[in-house]
Order: sequence, then structure tokens, then C-alpha cells
Amino acid sequence: MSSSQVDATAPVYSPPQRAIHWLHAALIFATLPLGVAIGKAPPGAFSDATMNGLYNAHRSFGFLVLVVAVLRVATRVAKGAPAPVATLTPVERIASGAVHHLLYVMIFLVPLLGWAGTSAYRAEISVFGLFHLPHFVAENRALSEKLLGAHGAAAMVMALLVFAHIGGALMHLIVKRDGVFRRMWPGG
Ligand code: HEM
Ligand code: HEM
Repeated sequence: MSSSQVDATAPVYSPPQRAIHWLHAALIFATLPLGVAIGKAPPGAFSDATMNGLYNAHRSFGFLVLVVAVLRVATRVAKGAPAPVATLTPVERIASGAVHHLLYVMIFLVPLLGWAGTSAYRAEISVFGLFHLPHFVAENRALSEKLLGAHGAAAMVMALLVFAHIGGALMHLIVKRDGVFRRMWPGG
């Protein structure tokens, strides 16, 4: 088989893993811009009510990213991953493996730093108005500033990894056409 043909019989990720991957991507694409909006908005750009709404939505979706991360690792451990596509070069294999591992770290680290920083600030963390998350760090404004600074920096690293990951996925879909994309595609 030439490298430009997709082997329709090659193994793919299990249906729950594919569903969770795309749910997670949607949640991250909701959370990231909300974070940028609250972190980078110049003072007075939004009314207090809008700002509160943005904070609540950001924290709520961010918390869901963490919950789904737990589910995701559980399904990954239970179901494993299909063997790598044979056409991957050693560089592609190492680079994609590194990005995937770092993304697994970030889906925990980023929301936990946001939760910790908000805990140290003692701001309410309401999840879609349904319940509140506990504060698990003692009140300390200086620490909160450091934790939220680290949260923002880690979120930017995560965004870069996501863009690199999407670039890689599209390269496989459009240029190499080697079946990597269909391993994660819902109907793959
Ligand atoms: C994967 C999930 C999350 C992502 C991708 C994310 C991303 C971001 C980004 C990009 C910023 C802007 C940072 C800056 O401009 O310096 C931000 C700010 C913020 N995030 Fe998150 N976040 C997530 C989860 C959470 C969670 C779970 C909480 C709290 C429970 C939270 C609380 C905050 C707060 C309070 C800020 C504002 C920080 C400030 O005022 O400087 N985030 N987040
Ligand atoms: C925004 C959040 C995203 C995150 C956090 C994420 C994370 C991941 C991770 C960790 C894996 C490795 C799965 C494993 O082996 O356990 C993976 C695989 C994959 N992702 Fe994403 N992804 C995201 C978005 C996307 C998008 C937007 C695309 C497509 C444009 C995409 C396409 C793929 C493909 C094709 C695979 C399978 C790669 C392979 O077979 O090795 N992902 N993703």
C-alpha cells in the first residue's frame, strides 16, 4: 500500500476514547478564549456583571476539563491505544508522543493551578450555579497572584501544544493521508 492511501482496516481508538477526545477539545476551545478574555481585557472593557459571568463560565468549563481529564485517563488505561501507524517517521513518532504526553499533563495542571489560585484568593467557584468547589489552599493574596500567573503561563503553553497538535493532525489528513486522522475521527 502506498503512503497516500488510507488503510480502512487499520485499528482506531475505541468509540468512548474518540467521543471523549472531541468533547475535551470542545471544552478546551470554550475555556481558553474565556480565560484570555478575563485575563487580558483592559480595565472597564466589560461591566461587572459581564465580567462575573465570564469568570463563572471560565471556571465552570475549566472544571469540566478537569473532570473529563480523569475520565479520559481512565479510558486510556482501560482501552490502551492502537499500534502506531506504520508510515510514521521516527521524528513524527517521538514528536507526536511528546506532544500527547505534555497535553495529558496540561489537562490536569492548568485547571488545578486555576482552582488553586482562585482558592488562595477566596473567590467563590460556582460550577454553572449548581454547586461550589471547595477552597483547598489557605487564603493568601500574594500566593494567589503567583498561582494564577503560573496558570496563565501554563495555559499559553497548552494552547501552543494544541496548535502544534492540530497542525500535525491536519498534516496527516491533508498531506500524508496516512490514516492517522481517522484513528480519532468519530466515524473513523
Ligand atoms: C483547562 C482549563 C483552563 C484553561 C485552558 C484556562 C485558561 C486560562 C487563560 C488562558 C487565562 C488568561 C491568563 C492570562 O491572561 O494571564 C486564565 C485566567 C484565569 N483562570 Fe483559567 N483556565 C482553565 C481552568 C480554570 C479553572 C478550573 C479556574 C478556577 C476554578 C480558572 C481560573 C482562572 C482565573 C481566576 C483567571 C484570571 C486570572 C487573572 O485575573 O489574572 N481557570 N485561564
Ligand atoms: C484542544 C484540545 C485537544 C487535546 C487536548 C487533544 C489531545 C490529544 C491526545 C492526548 C491524543 C493522544 C491520544 C492517546 O494516544 O491517548 C490525541 C490524539 C489525536 N488528536 Fe487530539 N487533541 C485536541 C484537539 C484535536 C483536534 C482539534 C484535532 C484535529 C484537528 C485532533 C486530532 C487528533 C488525532 C487525529 C489524534 C490521533 C493521533 C494518533 O493516532 O496518534 N485533536 N489528541
